[in-house]
Amino acid sequence: MDLTGKRAIVTGAASGIGRATAVAMAQAGANVLACDQSAEIEALGAALADGSVTATVDVARERDVRRMVELAAERLGGIDILFANAGVVGAIDPVVDLTAEDWQQVFAVNVMGTFFCLKHVVQHMLDRDQGGTIIATASVAGLRAGGGPMPYSASKAAVINLVRNAACQLRGTGIRVNAICPGLIETGMTQPIFDAARAAGKVDRIGQLNPTLRAGQPGEVARLVVALCGDAGSYVNGEAIVVDGGLAASLPFIPGKMW
Ligand SMILES: NC(=O)c1ccc[n+]([C@@H]2O[C@H](COP(=O)([O-])OP(=O)(O)OC[C@H]3O[C@@H](n4cnc5c(N)ncnc54)[C@H](O)[C@@H]3O)[C@@H](O)[C@H]2O)c1
Repeated sequence: MDLTGKRAIVTGAASGIGRATAVAMAQAGANVLACDQSAEIEALGAALADGSVTATVDVARERDVRRMVELAAERLGGIDILFANAGVVGAIDPVVDLTAEDWQQVFAVNVMGTFFCLKHVVQHMLDRDQGGTIIATASVAGLRAGGGPMPYSASKAAVINLVRNAACQLRGTGIRVNAICPGLIETGMTQPIFDAARAAGKVDRIGQLNPTLRAGQPGEVARLVVALCGDAGSYVNGEAIVVDGGLAASLPFIPGKMW
């Protein structure tokens, strides 16, 4: 878990998984450029070590991402790690009610945003010729149906394939590219689910579909990301790593009904 001397970009770092990972990377010794489209990113500065920086970046805008990479080169002196994590959940409607705009809005952030980050960070890493590690946040919803809304799930499947293609294209460069696939994690994105369950006195039911019988916390994903960025991940490449308490391990079942 030692990232001493590493320079990392984290997107979507104002909240949830990104915030926890930026803090965990800084605690592991990395200098971090923590980015988010929300101005709330500025508040994270105090939780990061000296040498880390925050910036307002919309990953769906290529010029923002280009500026983000230039900023990392200027302020951190380079980039060893990219955690392309920013994402939105988007429309939750049934297929017949979804519009082109619903799909474009989700894909603009989750797919194009991840692509822009990969493109510009990879160019930087290739120019420097010292390898690097890239992790994108996909989801169990990208692995099979039933884990999220339709455009969101399709966007996360695209992220998994983007990562696998990038890892193969970058053969021999020393750049590893992986995705992580969280299950249900308590963050800003899922807060409405937790708030509704708490209001109904049913919060203990959350997470009962996975064999760990609970939802995850952002720190549990952050620790995996930090490990993958360090020596523990040195031979992990082109993979979609699930961190979901076992949710994706089974077909849906009703506990106690079958055995
Ligand atoms: N929470 C879960 O259960 C869960 C499960 C699977 C995957 N994920 C994925 O984890 C990632 C992080 O989400 P989270 O759960 O921490 O949610 P979150 O809402 O707490 O954090 C997401 C952050 O991304 C930022 N963001 C959104 N659009 C952006 C843009 N265009 N440019 C820059 N930043 C942007 C938001 O401002 C926010 O701070 C997302 O990619 C999400 O799809 C979450």
